[in-house]
Amino acid sequence: MAENNEFAGRFKKAIERNFDESAGIYDAFEEKHHLFGTLTNRLCELIAPNEPERILDVGCGTGISTLALYNAYPKSPIIYAIDLSEAMLVRARERCKGHSGIYFVRGDAEQLSSYFHEKFDAVFYTASIFLIPRFSESIAQACGLIIPGGVLAISFYTGIFDDSREDAINRVFPDMKYQYGAVAFPELMECLDAQKSYKGTEVDFHFEINREFLFDFLSIPAQSAGLFPKVPYIQRIPLVREFCDKLAGEVSPLFMGWKFVISRKR
Ligand SMILES: C[S@@+](CC[C@H](N)C(=O)[O-])C[C@H]1O[C@@H](n2cnc3c(N)ncnc32)[C@H](O)[C@@H]1O
Repeated sequence: MAENNEFAGRFKKAIERNFDESAGIYDAFEEKHHLFGTLTNRLCELIAPNEPERILDVGCGTGISTLALYNAYPKSPIIYAIDLSEAMLVRARERCKGHSGIYFVRGDAEQLSSYFHEKFDAVFYTASIFLIPRFSESIAQACGLIIPGGVLAISFYTGIFDDSREDAINRVFPDMKYQYGAVAFPELMECLDAQKSYKGTEVDFHFEINREFLFDFLSIPAQSAGLFPKVPYIQRIPLVREFCDKLAGEVSPLFMGWKFVISRKR
């Protein structure tokens, strides 16, 4: 599925539209729940002892990951950050205003090598790789941009779980075909394993969430579009509310799941 050109083109158009629609709500969610900053900070801890001075942030969104990366390192790294959505980038430029050495590019993660010719100490995909249909193309190009000793760092959303790590959405809505994004985690690992000179490790990150967190998360247009793809946003909200009530009513406690992948270049 992921390698089909026509599918990829349509999928990326939908992603761009969904994130253009999401920018304000995305930032309101982050201000309340601090999810995306936390994911980026965890990746920075996991790549230690590396302290990258030249970073590429792929799918930088509203710049939450970009600023977290900048603040994580005392030497103020140079950061290039790329995203498809202009509405997300407008906020990213505003968030990072006044910090020197941060450059934003509007573009497609599947064409990294046409935008970037310099080498990086680290390339981050924070909460973005699963949205990139030809992710293997993007990863191969990113790997070519990393110096020996450098690192590729990825956070991957795996879903909502019960306390025995079973998929809670499948449990409560067995007929719902839900995969957030275009990429299944095993496909990503297969692609990373195929990169010459890279050696990867993965780390699970599960944390308990309540109904309010779930509702706020799924109220981001780009998130609820995965659940109710054909329904316009305004009509999705009552559906999201009903969905959260049922899920949180039938599964307690609820957990959100992510995987971190760190792949080092020898
Ligand atoms: C969930 S947001 C994460 C944003 C940011 N990294 C953070 O941690 O807050 C995912 C971002 O990836 C971007 N994205 C998705 N597909 C992309 C592509 N093919 N090229 C560039 N950016 C893409 C979306 O526009 C969106 O802003």
